[in-house]
Amino acid sequence: MSATVLVTGGAGFIGSHTCVELLQHGYEVVVIDDHSNSSPHALERVAKVAGRPVAAAYEADLRDRAALDRVFAAHRIDTVVHFAAKRAVGESVEKPTEYYDVNLGGTTALLHAMRVHGVQRLVFSSSCSIYGDAPVGIPLTENDPAAPTNPYATAKWLCEQLLADACRHQPELSVLALRYFNPVGAHPSGLLGEDPHGVPGNVMPYLAQVAVGRRDRLSVFGDDYPTADGTGVRDYIHVVDVADGHRVALEHLGDDRGMRVFNLGTGVGTSVLELIAAFQAACGRPIPYEITRRRPGDVAALVADPGAVAHAWNWTASRGLAAMCADAWRFQDLNPDGYPD
Ligand code: UD1
Repeated sequence: MSATVLVTGGAGFIGSHTCVELLQHGYEVVVIDDHSNSSPHALERVAKVAGRPVAAAYEADLRDRAALDRVFAAHRIDTVVHFAAKRAVGESVEKPTEYYDVNLGGTTALLHAMRVHGVQRLVFSSSCSIYGDAPVGIPLTENDPAAPTNPYATAKWLCEQLLADACRHQPELSVLALRYFNPVGAHPSGLLGEDPHGVPGNVMPYLAQVAVGRRDRLSVFGDDYPTADGTGVRDYIHVVDVADGHRVALEHLGDDRGMRVFNLGTGVGTSVLELIAAFQAACGRPIPYEITRRRPGDVAALVADPGAVAHAWNWTASRGLAAMCADAWRFQDLNPDGYPD
């Protein structure tokens, strides 16, 4: 019998692409998602792309312990892949307690349910944001110190601490925390992509919505950072590479017990202005933008040293910036208003 993976936040941007990858590799997939920033239609698209549907999908908040208990009781779950979380840096600065409540509370409830139901394998969606304000030009390794600059990042860092403590307390646990850099792009089919509720908080979906005419112009948050052109530099990674990284992570969960941490990035830094240029080339139309003030909580540059995962799993991201922009644009062009209501 094939292994059953519970994907929390499975209808979301990274979650839905990971469901496709897992279904295509023979796993049974169970999804739990509260749809606070995702559409139930994403799972219909997942079925179309993967050629078969997820085994079950539940609409619930992870902090609802009774609902979580019912999901674990109904399926023989082998591994949990935990994406469900709030994820907008700006919003986290405005509503810090909500971020701690949802992101830490959801993870705690999940660990509790895993212990009660004897599930010992977890892949956790962590973030490069925990490194905080890193020196420009120096790629970050997993051994660099954490210095989160906003509540979103602090909550991710606290979740890592929580998981490390759980592993000390329960030596039978195997946990992998994957610190993604900036996942962007979309499935090349144009069926799956990023469709945030409301005004996009991240640069790539905002760019795509400007290109398709839903928004007037992109605000570039600051051009006075100590980077080559003054705008923020990030390590953008194609969401299909991130999904593939999760599939490979599942194969390596059993390598060891306890908590392990890996970066998922490309090692390539791209500024906001370089991203705009690449997106213009992909969509063939100009992207109006204006330089505005820095966004609170933002940092100058974050670029991965992707060496540890390459060494441990012989895995590297394979898709470049042109593919990220072309695929993001294809999804936006084919779905100008995102998934159907
Ligand atoms: C943040 C987290 C990252 C996380 C992601 C999830 C930090 C440092 N990074 O990414 O770990 O995976 O959220 O959502 O906390 N920008 C503009 N205009 C916009 C939006 C963004 O200029 O309208 C700029 C930002 O200033 C930044 C870059 O674009 O330089 C990327 O921003 P964004 O896409 O929001 O991602 P991060 O904040 O880097």
